[in-house]
Amino acid sequence: MNQLPEHVRRNRAHWDQLAPNYVSAGEHGWITNEPNWGIWSVPESEVRMFPDELANKDVIELGCGTAYVSSWLARRGARVVGIDNSEQQLATAKRLQREHGLDFPLIHGNAEAVPYPDASFDFAISEYGACLWADPYRWVPEAARLLRPEGRLHFLVNAFLLTLCVPAEDDRAAEDRLLRSAFGMYRIEWPTDDSVEFHLSHGDWIVLLRRSGFEIEDLVEIRPGANAKTRYPFVTLEWARQWPSEEVWKVRKR
Ligand SMILES: C[S@@+](CC[C@H](N)C(=O)[O-])C[C@H]1O[C@@H](n2cnc3c(N)ncnc32)[C@H](O)[C@@H]1O
Repeated sequence: MNQLPEHVRRNRAHWDQLAPNYVSAGEHGWITNEPNWGIWSVPESEVRMFPDELANKDVIELGCGTAYVSSWLARRGARVVGIDNSEQQLATAKRLQREHGLDFPLIHGNAEAVPYPDASFDFAISEYGACLWADPYRWVPEAARLLRPEGRLHFLVNAFLLTLCVPAEDDRAAEDRLLRSAFGMYRIEWPTDDSVEFHLSHGDWIVLLRRSGFEIEDLVEIRPGANAKTRYPFVTLEWARQWPSEEVWKVRKR
């Protein structure tokens, strides 16, 4: 525990405390088996977070939380591993595994240093997991190490534009003006809790991904449906129908 980086220790405490608030979303995710993504629950047919072939592929979910994404992958025939920094989130995931009769490895650990050999996986995925809460200059090279050549990494995070427009105060939605600098955007500590997030500009993502050995295949800017709803206060539907509030990066290891 003492050897964990400071942001990982803080985020562990944060997510252990927050875990009860994620139980019901986790239960719902495990029941549906119809993949949908992000805060607007956009269907898989629009986002294509999963590659076409999953059967018998080795897959890792980086920051799996309650592991509903991993459950969707396992049901599609993937040999999936979930890693998460929060024991409490994993406790929910393990209970849901038992209830749904699905078993796959769930590792309590930091996605910046995964206890698997090089080239162990064909696909890595993260939905608001390590891709938001781990240091991109550590977890992206680690994902590249874990993937085989031609392996894919897909991740969904808050859109760069949204992060520029969200006020620091809790429960205030994104405004229609820029509230922070784009240049140098990296580590963000919101004043209302003790967690640490990481957000990069598009330019910095591109440099990091390419330098880590990835080719960029797609950047999907999510558009919520007409009547989409979210339980999160940081963006309104009106805002998200005009500008990207979430984005999906799809990259392939060279
Ligand atoms: C919002 S949940 C993501 C799970 C799910 N997709 C969701 O949207 O609810 C964020 C998860 O990332 C995990 N996490 C944060 N930092 C991490 C790290 N360095 N390594 C692995 N998991 C991490 C947290 O413990 C938490 O369970």
